[in-house]
Amino acid sequence: MNPSSSAVIQMKDLRKSFGTQKVMDGLDLEIPRGKITVIIGRSGEGKSVLLKTMIGLIFPDSGKVLIEGTDMLELSGQGQNEMRKKFGMLFQNAALFDSMNVFDNVAFPLRQHSHLEEDEIEVKVLDKLAKVGLKNVGHKMPSELSGGMRKRVGLARALMLDPEIILYDEPTTGLDPILTDSIDNLILETQKSFGLTSVIVSHDIRSTIKMADKIAMLYEGRILSEGSPESFRESKDPRIQNFLQGKADKDFIG
Ligand SMILES: Nc1ncnc2c1ncn2[C@@H]1O[C@H](COP(=O)(O)OP(=O)(O)OP(=O)(O)O)[C@@H](O)[C@H]1O
Ligand SMILES: [Mg+2]
Repeated sequence: MNPSSSAVIQMKDLRKSFGTQKVMDGLDLEIPRGKITVIIGRSGEGKSVLLKTMIGLIFPDSGKVLIEGTDMLELSGQGQNEMRKKFGMLFQNAALFDSMNVFDNVAFPLRQHSHLEEDEIEVKVLDKLAKVGLKNVGHKMPSELSGGMRKRVGLARALMLDPEIILYDEPTTGLDPILTDSIDNLILETQKSFGLTSVIVSHDIRSTIKMADKIAMLYEGRILSEGSPESFRESKDPRIQNFLQGKADKDFIG
């Protein structure tokens, strides 16, 4: 396999239906190494399904998902688990374990995937929590946190195993503009300081333009368009312009 291509993830001709509903319909997408790719698209278009397909939590009906040249779908269960360690994922709504306090949530990946002693785990957890701007919250339960704090805890957990690739599913949806900006900056800083490959699903056009090296727009099961923020702004395609300007498509019953 030749992983020298600048694409870390290559998705080829992906198809996926849930019952009679087609969510991916011949989708091709490449995620460039060391860059931020932002995936946009209407609600229900399949963005979360696409991220979960990258990390092997959802399997397509057909097509290929190559991670650094290796087909995720041809690996054994063990091989897929190993591959998943390259990834960190911030799930939509943070997806914290409600029955665990903040410390245990963030420590979870280390306890699952490493043989570190508790005192070493503590150092790492406190370090990651500090990086996302959280101090003295380790003992709190997720239900005691604000939405922004939950996202930060999710981010600390996603970074715990020092991933090469990090997937963010709507990291700022529902947050106020100041928190949005601080999470965006955190993502940019993380990107720079760890040299990661990042994939962000976003509904926030301002954030998208600010963050993206590459934008890919999902539309009816395929990538309608991909390119730089400038190429999106200059696009004459009404479906792209409607999306950027927050107008509903005439056929959109959302
Ligand atoms: N596990 C599943 N079983 C059945 N249908 C599913 C499953 N996961 C997703 N879907 C369906 O696939 C479609 C795409 O869902 P997805 O969550 O990827 O949308 P999305 O683009 O992330 O939307 P949003 O912006 O609202 O988060 C939806 O119609 C959803 O109901
Ligand atoms: Mg989603």
